[in-house]
Amino acid sequence: MSISRDDFGDDFKWGVVISAFQNEGAYDADGKGLSIWDTFTTRKGKIRDKTDARHACDFYNRYREDILLAKQMGFNVFRFSLSWPRIIPQGTGAVNQAGIDFYQRVIDYCLELGLEPYVTLYHWDLPHALEQKGGWCHRGTVHAFENFATICAQAFGHKVKNWIILNEPFGFTSLGYMLGVHAPGKFGLSYFLPAVHHVALAQAEGARVIRAEVPNARIGTTYSCSHIIPYTQSEQDVRAAARADALFNRLFIEPALGMGYPSDAFPLLKRIERRYALWRDWDKLPFDFDFIGIQNYFPLVVRYNPFMPYVQVSEVKARYRNVPLTSLGWEISGTGMYNILKQFGAYEGVKELMVTESGAAFDDSLEDENRIAYFKEYLEAVLKAKKEGVPVTGYFAWTLTDNFEWAEGYKARFGLVHVDFATQQRTIKASGRWFRQLLLQPERIG
Ligand code: NOJ
Repeated sequence: MSISRDDFGDDFKWGVVISAFQNEGAYDADGKGLSIWDTFTTRKGKIRDKTDARHACDFYNRYREDILLAKQMGFNVFRFSLSWPRIIPQGTGAVNQAGIDFYQRVIDYCLELGLEPYVTLYHWDLPHALEQKGGWCHRGTVHAFENFATICAQAFGHKVKNWIILNEPFGFTSLGYMLGVHAPGKFGLSYFLPAVHHVALAQAEGARVIRAEVPNARIGTTYSCSHIIPYTQSEQDVRAAARADALFNRLFIEPALGMGYPSDAFPLLKRIERRYALWRDWDKLPFDFDFIGIQNYFPLVVRYNPFMPYVQVSEVKARYRNVPLTSLGWEISGTGMYNILKQFGAYEGVKELMVTESGAAFDDSLEDENRIAYFKEYLEAVLKAKKEGVPVTGYFAWTLTDNFEWAEGYKARFGLVHVDFATQQRTIKASGRWFRQLLLQPERIG
């Protein structure tokens, strides 16, 4: 099969994505406060290659060069996130005008080039000062987030119409508050369950702020998601897969849709319902999002494992299953993308889906044919779902430039553009040229 831009229709959005912490650097410039990732990266043994993101890709100073690259590759959307501690250094209280000014420059340059800005309010870099008060385990963080959303809406709402409230809530609550492998490095249910509930509240309360402040805003939020496959058809494996699905795919979208937490498949979540019963929060969780962001990298095969605490599920790793892998050991599967689009498209309350991240890490190479093959496979899957009626309206590639891949450091490279981190030199990879051809020369490409 070959694909062309025309297959997706004229209105389809083609984006490329970065995030503040992974790209900006300038970690203490012009009044910025520290985030939980600034402090987490200084802890021993937390980052695989012992690096940090104090300088990252220096997007703070090189944003014009990078946004121009996005334009040159033919994209019409540029998705980036706002660093909360750059705008409100202590999380609440004084606003840092230099931070606001930086994002005004970024937004203005996007608009000048004809790139539509998609702004993410929260891509994991919580102000460190808020973590010291309990972070997402503390209800005050929800109110602080509403205040942050208000400041951002008032500063940028006249220029920015597309708002994404949270990036991958299950990603940052599970890795950061259950497993301790991401910032803030907390682990255990006593952190995880309160964090889940406060983040679910923040996703709706933050969205309500944008709705109230920005006329005609299109408001979305994004979810990490994976099609879940039971290892065997045994009853135990099938039920284990349902628990995994409740956690990986249903945990945050269902409260937003007014369906509550998926405790039917994962009864442990009833603890959230019990713990917050007195707060009467249930009617605060829903929000009518204009679009849902799908961020699918791999499917998951899971089996029953009685020794795994709480979930009694374990993953059957892709590397033991003789399937194609990225350099992070993630299974490459367009079918997984197709299935997850079908799954999310089937929710009654979902109006529109956008693939707000999609991409792959491969070893350092400018001639990244493997990444081209990956994008082709995933785009074909998106097209197939779209043709079958799934309302998917955009595809955003992760990511523009190689950047700081959280606990993996710089070794996992996802960029369409190569970065030499010693010199900050940018070089478009074959995959970036492939997008340029797909998006700017609309003939079929094989
Ligand atoms: C999910 C996250 O949103 C992004 O920050 C990360 O780099 C990519 N996926 C790849 O892991």
